[in-house]
Amino acid sequence: MDLQHVKPASAAAQALGLVDEKTRAITPALHLSTTFLRDADNQFRSGRVYARADNPTFEPAEALLTHLEHGAGALLFSSGMAAATTVFMGLKPGDHVVAPKVMYWGLRNWLQNFAKDWGLQVELVDMTDPGALARAMQPGRTKLVWIETPANPTWVITDIAAAAGITHQAGARLAVDSTVATPVLTQPIRLGADIVMHAATKYLNGHSDVLAGALVTAQADEFWSRLKAIRHDMGAVLGSFEAWLLLRGMRTLYVRVSAACTGAEKIAAHFYGHPRIEAVLYPGLATASGHAIAARQMTGGFGGMLSLRVRGGESAAIATAARVQLWKRATSLGGVESLIEHRASVEGAGSPAPADMLRLSVGLEDPNDLVADLEQALGTG
Ligand SMILES: Cc1ncc(COP(=O)(O)O)c(C=O)c1O
Repeated sequence: MDLQHVKPASAAAQALGLVDEKTRAITPALHLSTTFLRDADNQFRSGRVYARADNPTFEPAEALLTHLEHGAGALLFSSGMAAATTVFMGLKPGDHVVAPKVMYWGLRNWLQNFAKDWGLQVELVDMTDPGALARAMQPGRTKLVWIETPANPTWVITDIAAAAGITHQAGARLAVDSTVATPVLTQPIRLGADIVMHAATKYLNGHSDVLAGALVTAQADEFWSRLKAIRHDMGAVLGSFEAWLLLRGMRTLYVRVSAACTGAEKIAAHFYGHPRIEAVLYPGLATASGHAIAARQMTGGFGGMLSLRVRGGESAAIATAARVQLWKRATSLGGVESLIEHRASVEGAGSPAPADMLRLSVGLEDPNDLVADLEQALGTG
């Protein structure tokens, strides 16, 4: 059966039907070699020279991600930050870029510090308002628009198709950090994006044991070749074992994301209107400001991330996190175990995270246990 044409969950489970031709193994080989044999006539018929350029262990993971995102190619990186910063390094000093006010704080800090010092003109706008994006565009000067949806740490939604229309009208490229949505819930290239970025550390790997990043392109164009050259020349490549683990994680992506969505929906519904909770931030709630757009561009769920604003302010939120027994107090997201963190403490000054907010990454535990643990931590269980 042609695994290019089965449902994406089937393609992922079988890693596109991968079978090792030499050994008939149904799981991929792990190649640790950093270099490849040159033919006696001085050619490289294998197509591989050196592992910073060509790593055969990357190939099945890159092929599967390309397939799931409906792209023309994918590149693995040593972390999500390495993947994201490579896109900006592909631009030239003086180029204007537009990014969201609400986004992964590590990348926002890099944009406001390193990228500005390096010569990019960085403008942050409210991406939930297409009018604000349109007003920020400088045709001819704006080269890249970066969006993240749902966006850390409040899970606001950006309309990808609307952003793509505005971006392309000004002659720029649209890049989407789709880490939280994953290809299970959203395929940005189908909605007009040019580049999709994943912190593969999160849901794609899914087990909190690999740092990795990925880019997927809509077109194998000149800009894509430049990004590939940057990975090669600056050297932010993934290790072979991490690439192997990443593919293993991606094979269970669909069941994991589906279960995380179910858990997050149950937790959001349970705490909506709860006497100890000021607000539940989750795009799956009908009352969320971006719900209608999310319902249109996300399929099969609204993600496994949500935030709770605790009545009583910062000290009540931190005290609640201190009392959990099942949730793990740790940063990151997208793993099998549920994580809780007081996000404002992590992000520091300038963060859009309200001081009373706890960020939750819902894992694969029984949602009833997760609710009961939060209830006891709030002092109501
Ligand atoms: C949405 C998002 N983008 C990018 C990153 C950066 O990924 P990494 O930590 O793998 O560098 C993260 C990490 O938390 C993230 O949550």
